[in-house]
Amino acid sequence: MASLENLVERLQLQLEDRRQKDLFRELSLPVPHKLDLSANDYFQLRTHPKVIQASENAIRSYGTGSGASPLVTGFLPCHSQLLDKLLEWKQKPYGMLFNSGFIANQAIFKHIPGDKDLVLADKLVHHSVLQGMTSGKAKFLRYPHLNLDKLEELLIKHRNDFDTIFVATESVFSMDGDYPDLQHIAALKKKYKFIWILDEAHAIGYWGPQGEGLAHEHKVYDQVDIIVGTLSKALASSGGYIVVKAREFIDYLINFSGEFIYSTYLAPAQAAAAEAAIEIIKNAETTRNLLKKTVKHFRSELIKIGLGSEEFSSQIIPIIIGETEATLSLKNQLKEKGILVGAIRPPTVPKGTDRLRISIHSGVRENDLSEVLKVLKLWKKQKG
Ligand SMILES: Cc1ncc(COP(=O)(O)O)c(C=O)c1O
Repeated sequence: MASLENLVERLQLQLEDRRQKDLFRELSLPVPHKLDLSANDYFQLRTHPKVIQASENAIRSYGTGSGASPLVTGFLPCHSQLLDKLLEWKQKPYGMLFNSGFIANQAIFKHIPGDKDLVLADKLVHHSVLQGMTSGKAKFLRYPHLNLDKLEELLIKHRNDFDTIFVATESVFSMDGDYPDLQHIAALKKKYKFIWILDEAHAIGYWGPQGEGLAHEHKVYDQVDIIVGTLSKALASSGGYIVVKAREFIDYLINFSGEFIYSTYLAPAQAAAAEAAIEIIKNAETTRNLLKKTVKHFRSELIKIGLGSEEFSSQIIPIIIGETEATLSLKNQLKEKGILVGAIRPPTVPKGTDRLRISIHSGVRENDLSEVLKVLKLWKKQKG
């Protein structure tokens, strides 16, 4: 007979295993700091007066919550306005909003690929994609990270075995800051006719002439069938969206996705904040260029101390440490100096690739990074 004690004991055992391996996670409040290199608010818009004003106006117009799920009465003019703005920015005809980027991915991967379909996904796709694929009906296979030759092999091998093949990847990978050659994927799509799903969560703001994402930077946005995005990173809010080529994707999810149907819709202030943030980001060319310059500087300094490579140039920079204890120790050393960085451990990243995740935002100046470089240089020297 099951008892609370038995259940608690089982949970404790699993938690203790995590503690033993230095992998236990717990919530903590941010400490006072002078430099935050851990957040995804790449343009610091969470505190931008126009974004705050837009949120305040939305609260005054609509109240603090949307009050209902979207098919009842939760879909409000502020949501419709945001959607129009997204479609115009992303140059896609149809789209919809979700309560988070995580839920957007779950909805797509659970409901769109059917039982006669195959999904080919990069090995390191975000957990939301993985969870969506796991709960969906389609078979899925993962190709080695960024390895498009392997992707092509799988496309050739399986092209006659399924009704539809989907290819899923992030553009900028959240924990690695690297990205696939999108032109290459577009060429494969032309040859093998798959449905392309691209998660642009971390590329928004940084890439593209108006911050639209990497698909726009690489001029392949027209070939992508489903672009997934989040309002929660450069757009300084919360919520997710998809923009798509075919209206049926939207109608289908509105009709069959429980994630969309049965949850109170995102708060008006969130929608309004994101809409204001898009307008700022679209016109932030100077800031974007300055941010890229800071990133370039930091990346080239890392190369000098043997901790970087020239291959990628996004604002997310992983410093692979390898051991969990050393990763936590470096994070804490930086924290003592008032610098926040992410310490990313398994299972978020593969075993043995524990890392500091540094994300550069538009407020960071080259000088601000010298202390980080000093700590890393010393660690590298001691490690030999
Ligand atoms: C690649 C990727 N997709 C989706 C998400 C989920 O987005 P959200 O934070 O809006 O749930 C994240 C967030 O970490 C992400 O990194």
